[in-house]
Amino acid sequence: MKQNVTRRHFLATAGVAALGAGVAKAAEGTGKPVKIIGVSCSSRKGMTTAKAVQAALDAAQGADPRITVELIDLGGLSIAGYSPQPPQDDFTAILPKLQDPALGGLIIGSPAYFRGMSALCKAFIERCAPLREPKMLLANKPVGVVAVGAFRNGGQEMTIEQIQAAMLCFGMIVVGGNAPAFQGATVLSTKDDISADTLGLDTAKKLGAHMAEMALKLGI
Ligand SMILES: Cc1cc2nc3c(=O)[nH]c(=O)nc-3n(C[C@H](O)[C@H](O)[C@H](O)COP(=O)(O)O)c2cc1C
Repeated sequence: MKQNVTRRHFLATAGVAALGAGVAKAAEGTGKPVKIIGVSCSSRKGMTTAKAVQAALDAAQGADPRITVELIDLGGLSIAGYSPQPPQDDFTAILPKLQDPALGGLIIGSPAYFRGMSALCKAFIERCAPLREPKMLLANKPVGVVAVGAFRNGGQEMTIEQIQAAMLCFGMIVVGGNAPAFQGATVLSTKDDISADTLGLDTAKKLGAHMAEMALKLGI
């Protein structure tokens, strides 16, 4: 019995050690550049959602020289929801960027529309279905979420939850911001301007920094 316990203890210890080594190896990263794509899901190009996503991307890029970033602004684009016959619309040009093996993570931003994600955001996510089959191309890659509302408690957290829940269907690893921005970036727009929301912009920066850390740890 004692021998069994000792053996069990050995196996458990060895398992923890192996796990620790794995985490340490992952933390070293691959040394390869890792790309984080931000997607702004407001129909208004270049407005507050795009700016908030860009703030998170800038923080990610500033966190480590291996991080490269790109903003895809869906504003003004025509993207329909899922259909058995994929519509030939503006999503066609976006899909290859998301299929790129160099993609290390996604930051998805949406305005809060009636305390939830925008229809454009939902359509975008539905059209990402080819990223699940035949292969789960986004699996084990980090995703962080940005939500912008015109009210301080306008449903930003619920908007973030909706997007996080959807991206779990892609096997993505949901990442929040560094403390205390645990859920992600919650931003307040006042008269179409987020520059005065230092608290909200700080959550975007904290999200970007954590995304960079996790994208490097998880590797590609
Ligand atoms: C249809 C609609 C619904 C909205 N619902 C909310 C809401 O529930 N909560 C909120 O805080 N703001 C709400 N807003 C305001 C937008 O979230 C806010 O203006 C946001 O900054 C828009 O993002 P954009 O500047 O990137 O277009 C709503 C705006 C529209 C047009």
